[in-house]
Amino acid sequence: MEKDFVFHNPTKIYFGRHAMTHLKDELENYGENILLAYGGGSIKKNGIYDEVIKALKETNKNIIEFSGIMPNPTLNKMLEGVELVKKHHIDLILAVGGGSVIDLAKGVAVSTYASGDAFERYWLNKEAVDNECVPVGAILTMAGTGSEMNGGSVITDEDRKIKVGRVFGSYNYPKFSILNPLFTLTVPRYQMLSGIFDAFSHLMEQYFSDTDNSVTDYLLESLMRALIDAADVAIEDKDNYEARSNIMWISTLALNTLTGLGKSQDWEVHAIEHQISAYTDCAHGMGLAAISPAYYRYIYPFGIDKFKRFAVNVFKIDAEGKSDEELALAGIDALEDFIVTHAMPNSLKKLGVPRELLSKIADSAALGGGYKKLTREDVYAILYNAYERK
Ligand code: NZQ
Ligand code: ZN
Repeated sequence: MEKDFVFHNPTKIYFGRHAMTHLKDELENYGENILLAYGGGSIKKNGIYDEVIKALKETNKNIIEFSGIMPNPTLNKMLEGVELVKKHHIDLILAVGGGSVIDLAKGVAVSTYASGDAFERYWLNKEAVDNECVPVGAILTMAGTGSEMNGGSVITDEDRKIKVGRVFGSYNYPKFSILNPLFTLTVPRYQMLSGIFDAFSHLMEQYFSDTDNSVTDYLLESLMRALIDAADVAIEDKDNYEARSNIMWISTLALNTLTGLGKSQDWEVHAIEHQISAYTDCAHGMGLAAISPAYYRYIYPFGIDKFKRFAVNVFKIDAEGKSDEELALAGIDALEDFIVTHAMPNSLKKLGVPRELLSKIADSAALGGGYKKLTREDVYAILYNAYERK
């Protein structure tokens, strides 16, 4: 473990079929004014809304609804939430949804009592937070982002076409998160796949960096293997509880900071995807799938040992008779096969991105990287290579 670390994750997790039975006890810890934050209405169709309202009424809460939080949540929507929290003296923001709803709730939580322009200060300039945050509780309805157990909040400024993630400290993690895998049964297939690839990408972003043999890398390999297995089952057998529950918990572990401890990380695929999404509003995980094979083919020579290990330990490729290069590339080919087999887009064209946007995306994507620090021209080359694939 090359790097020192502090590990403190304060989110209390209630996991399983009966996880919702704990909601009332949790609500007792907060005052009476609850901002009920949710998305476009899926929770009304699948009955989760009714369950939440029942618990809120039984604990005598004032319910202030904050609905219509969109995928890739926007700055304007966040400011709408800030006004509601101020007006109604909110004691708890209860976020019911996927990563977008939870991210926006955390955004509102940290922005409401900020002095000045919170988006400018906290997201763009990454300033230290110097104000109180409103507590957030989460009820997760879709697996993928890990937002239920981390401080991440990704917000899109739709006017300036920038999507920016800020990772806040433990002061802005959900206080509690309720994870019932059965809630994910109504997630449309496309969204489920998007969540699966998002979690897989989080694991790869943490894995492809450094050359040592840290326990974190072993953990990442196990979770990648487990996710491939669970995804194969869940896609075929939509109602398989074990597969669904594994996907939900792997996604949470994949980004609750545990799987990044003691090592450096990459996150360039996410940096590029965020700008693809800022311009096209694509589903986050699908944007990641579309560029990942091209990105890894571009950078593998700079970290070839880890790519060989990925091929053998994650995709079970037989190393016998293969050169280093052939083995590394076979792992990336297997990743692309995983994408294609499950009908995810393996190119920007399949994702529906107009070719004219490549240059703008390359101009605006944040530059970083794990094995290779990228320039704007590198990013453009990756986008170009990712544009069209069979
Ligand atoms: O809006 P509703 O009606 O709820 O429908 C949602 C939405 O249309 C639907 N959905 C969710 N649960 C459902 C369901 N439909 C039926 N039944 C259910 N049980 O799914 C659609 C997508 O939801 P969304 O919350 O947007 O998906 P996801 O969880 O993938 O979140 C994506 C956002 O999270 C950010 C992404 O950039 C993106 O903005 N991320 C957040 C991270 C973090 N906080 O750490 C890290 C990630 O890398 C990611 O960047
Ligand atoms: Zn992600």
